[in-house]
Amino acid sequence: MPLDVIVLAAGQGKRMRSELPKVLHPLAGRALLAHVLDTARALAPRRTIVVHGHGAERVRAAFDGSGLEWVLQAEQLGTGHAVQQAMPRVGEDATVVILYGDVPLVRAESLKRLIDAAGDGVAVLTTELDDPSGYGRIVRDAAGRVERIVEHKDAADAERGIREINAGFMALSAKRLGAWLKKISNRNAQGEYYLTDVVTLAVSEGLPVHGVKVADPDEVAGVNSKRELAMLERAYQRREAGRLLEAAVSLADPSRIDVRGALECGRDVSIDVNCVFEGKVVLGDGVRIGPNCVLRDVTLGAGSEVFAFSHLESSEIGARCRLGPYARLRPGSSLADEVHVGNFVEVKASRLGVGSKANHLSYIGDSEIGSKVNVGAGTITCNYDGVSKHRTVIEDECFIGSDTTLVAPVRIARGSYIGAGSTITRDTPAGQLTLARAKQASIPSWKPPKKKS
Ligand code: UD1
Ligand code: CA
Repeated sequence: MPLDVIVLAAGQGKRMRSELPKVLHPLAGRALLAHVLDTARALAPRRTIVVHGHGAERVRAAFDGSGLEWVLQAEQLGTGHAVQQAMPRVGEDATVVILYGDVPLVRAESLKRLIDAAGDGVAVLTTELDDPSGYGRIVRDAAGRVERIVEHKDAADAERGIREINAGFMALSAKRLGAWLKKISNRNAQGEYYLTDVVTLAVSEGLPVHGVKVADPDEVAGVNSKRELAMLERAYQRREAGRLLEAAVSLADPSRIDVRGALECGRDVSIDVNCVFEGKVVLGDGVRIGPNCVLRDVTLGAGSEVFAFSHLESSEIGARCRLGPYARLRPGSSLADEVHVGNFVEVKASRLGVGSKANHLSYIGDSEIGSKVNVGAGTITCNYDGVSKHRTVIEDECFIGSDTTLVAPVRIARGSYIGAGSTITRDTPAGQLTLARAKQASIPSWKPPKKKS
């Protein structure tokens, strides 16, 4: 049977106390709903229908053009009502899986188990919690069969003692779901149409209801508050750290790493504490990352080393490079092999050739630097004239003296030496020493000033 997925994402999330719709709050750098939709995609459904309501336009805009079908639930009258809004889009022949937009860490494997279990009845995902308060409880009969789901607010004291809870995910045939939704009422403690009431209807028709248990409570944990969001963020990061350790990456402390995207590592990679990886980061064999670094959308070649407190963004770094401590690569930087970029050096939209070095206190912007160039301490490319950006070209094997300013556009020809403290405004000839600075003078008649008494 074809699979149609319904994602419920209309709720406001009052307890988030935020302007941002709940499902757009970021977990590991991406919206909660994005995690759920990724998991949905892994099931290869025919359709994915998202029921949205609060902050509808913002939610839709965040997932523009991702092949989703959007259904508006103008008033949030309960999970059963929400699913009902989606039913006109669901094929009669489908198996339906219902997901919650605020439960981001469910695994696709668990949902596959759920779908397989549904058969001709209903399957609900469950788990056992030490503290089940707030959740719907799974009530089983003497034979251990699922009988119904009772919401916390409707539950009797004895039922509140049940630790097996409803995760909220359900799989069943579209035909049956459609029929049962029509029979659901809102006579309950919250005055809502409960999706969970379809369980009672299934049982009354003699159909089996399968409780599919998952062991990891993080899979079913929902986000209702900033506190829960922070807890799930840690859970996510624990999973990521576990995955990296499994892939034989050395982590100085698995509880002090944050991966907000995809981090790919070769062999013998080591990562010190408090590093943040964003977007797509690829670390080649033997790469070492020092403590407190931020890497976003970068690739590092084999054997490269990044020392403490470096910030690297949208850049490509070759093999055996040494960056930092306190290095900053801004977008569009490309370093060939064996390049050194040292402390307090900022590189932006520039290329550095093999073996070139800028070890101290520099700004290199919109530049093309050849191989084996030495950029002295304090060198600045003056790339901006207040209106436009201009390029600086430094050819192979140049030596730029300390505290040089290179006023772009300018070309330093191959093998040029620039005397320290020069302000270079014109192209230099190859293989010569160029100086552009005031001459040093001393005044023999000079006397130090004296204080008047
Ligand atoms: C629901 C379940 C409960 C389960 C819990 C797990 C029901 C009646 N109860 O309770 O058994 O233990 O989830 O987290 O289903 N939503 C809409 N429209 C609505 C109402 C809700 O789209 O009218 C969406 C919310 O945005 C959210 C999801 O449905 O993504 C769950 O709604 P919520 O109000 O949080 O349900 P719970 O009371 O937590
Ligand atoms: Ca909830």
